This record gives sequence, structure tokens and C-alpha cells, in this order.
Amino acid sequence: MIIRSVIAGCGAYLPERVLTNQELAGTVDTTDEWIVKRTGIRQRHIAAKGELTSDLALEAGRAALADAGIAPEEIDIIVLATATPDETFPATATTVQHAIGMKGGAAFDVQAVCSGFVYALNVADNFIRLGQARTALVIGAETFSRILDWSDRTTCVLFGDGAGAVVLRAEEGEGTNADRGILANKIHSDGQYHDLLYVDGGPSSTGAVGHLKMAGKEVFKHAVTNLADVVDEVLLGSGVSADEVDWLVPHQANMRILKSTAARLGVPLEKVVVTVDRHANTSAASIPLAIAEAHGDGRLRQGQLVVLEAMGGGFTWGASLIRW
Ligand code: UT7
Repeated sequence: MIIRSVIAGCGAYLPERVLTNQELAGTVDTTDEWIVKRTGIRQRHIAAKGELTSDLALEAGRAALADAGIAPEEIDIIVLATATPDETFPATATTVQHAIGMKGGAAFDVQAVCSGFVYALNVADNFIRLGQARTALVIGAETFSRILDWSDRTTCVLFGDGAGAVVLRAEEGEGTNADRGILANKIHSDGQYHDLLYVDGGPSSTGAVGHLKMAGKEVFKHAVTNLADVVDEVLLGSGVSADEVDWLVPHQANMRILKSTAARLGVPLEKVVVTVDRHANTSAASIPLAIAEAHGDGRLRQGQLVVLEAMGGGFTWGASLIRW
């Protein structure tokens, strides 16, 4: 018998304010047509003034706990993925810990930008499999609207704000692919690509928050290759073929990346969960937001095989294979 991390509940939160492509076309030199054709994005949600990453994370976390039927006191760890924390320190996770009513345990942030949720899931899964935690709340939460240069049309049209969360619970498994829970994770990073996607500020460099900078075309090329490779790695390592996969839940950066990756893997588009049209790229929040939507509307069903994949600044990338 081995310990598996089973997804016991999912939750999501999107800020009320919706910013459409048409509205953006009134402030920067762009068009709805260009954005839809190049990215698939039609709108994004934007956090209200004073609404912080921890507020979004708290709502998503509460929803995930309610879905799992778990009380805050039962959580052993919160692992929160974000590149847009409330403050330089303490970790946004500790703010959520207090607000959610969790008395003991530990809460900390993980920073892997758009791959943050896959990284956080991997970290929490390791805690559970080692017996150091039995219940984990894993959150991806971002307010990218705060680090965008709203006069740069090449980046400001691409991102949005939001949060998603899952509750992981330890369950005994046989150690086979028939077990429920996380079957495999793989994460990578390669720091040589820093300059292709970064924020030009920070506490130790400029003392200011800075703005997101991206060489979109270059990132795009790396994304398609890295994502297909890491999914292959997870599937091969588990002895699972792509046609056994019921759902692919990709990081939602660009519809063209989603399509190219699915095509490279041989996964038909009907099996891909898509939210990029409505949420845009919410970085670490995009996968748990997509999971919560597909879980909520009954697409993700117990026993199905689900693959998550993401790529982001660093570069970082990774994938997870889950028996739902
Ligand atoms: O989540 C982390 C990972 N991030 C990503 O995965 C993003 C990866 N990259 C992308 O999604 C795409 O590269 C973009 C959507 C960012 C850009 O699409 P593209 O097809 O690579 O376009 P491009 O950058 O080559 O730009 C094509 C043209 C340029 O004009 P010229 O040089 O051909 O005259 C741009 O200036 O489109 C222009 N352009 C725009 N036009 C209207 C760039 N942004 C805009 C815009 N509206 N918002």
C-alpha cells in the first residue's frame, strides 16, 4: 500500500469586473479581431481596487473546502502559487491561513509563475506521500493586472486576474495506475531563458514592483515543445498512452498553444478544457480555475485520467497525471 493524494474538492474565484477586448481597443492600439485570432482571448477579469491576491485566494480556498466538505482546522498545509503576492513578505499563504481559520500547520508560497500550480501540487503531493501532511489546500492566485504595462499592447491584452484551489487528501492506494489521486508529477526549469519572460523589478534589484516583459514569439516556440515533452515524460514514466487520457487541462496562455500541444500529443480538442477565451492568462490560477469549471459542470468524473501541463517564466514547466 502507498499513500496517494486524492483531489477531494475544487474551488474558484473570479473578480466581478470583466474587461472585454473591445474596451481594451479603446485604450491601446489593438482590435478584438487581432486578439481573438492570435490568442483566442475575448475577455479577462480584473481585480477591484483594494482586492488583493489573498482575497481571491481566500474565496477559491473556501469554495474548495466547501466542495470537499472539509473544515479549515483539518488542513495541515497551504501551498499557494503566485507571482503577484500581496506583499514582498510575509507569504500570501499565511494571510490566507489566518483568514480561512486554520490554526496550526504551515502555509507558504511557491513561485514558478505560470507553472506555479503544477509546482505547488507537486510540493503538496510530496508532503502527503511522505506522511508529513494528510490534508493540503493548494491554491493558484494572481493579480497580474498589477504588473502589466497597460500601454504595451503586446502584453496587456494577454493576462487576467483570478484564483483556483484544490483540496488534497491522503488515501491508501495499491500503487498502480488504477489508484485514485496524483499518479505522477514532473517539473523542470531552465534559467538561461530569463530574458524572454520576466518582470523588470523587485525588492533586491530596483526596489519597485516592475512590469512584465515578454518576447512572445520565442516563448511560444519553447512552450509547444516543452509542454508536449513534459507530458510525454509523465505518460511514459507511468506506462500510460495519450489515447487513455480523458482530459487535458493545460495552462491557459494562448488557444494556438493549446491546439498545437494537443495536436503534438495526439489528444483531440474535445478532450481539452478551455477557459482562455473568458479568463485570458491568469498565470498560476489558470489550471485550478479550469479544473474547478470542468469539475463543477460534471466533465471531470471519478476514475478518469486527467493531465495538467504548464509553462512559464524562468523558464519553468511541468505536468501532472491524476486519476480523478
Ligand atoms: O503563460 C506564460 C507563457 N506565455 C505565453 O505562452 C505567451 C506566448 N506567446 C504568444 O502567445 C504569442 O506570441 C503572442 C500572442 C504574444 C503574439 O502572437 P504572435 O503571433 O507571436 O505575434 P507577434 O508577436 O509576431 O506580432 C505580430 C504583429 C506585430 O506587428 P508587426 O511587427 O508584424 O508589424 C506586433 O507588433 O502583431 C503586432 N501586435 C499587435 N497588433 C494588434 C502585437 N500585439 C498586438 C496587439 N494588437 N495587441
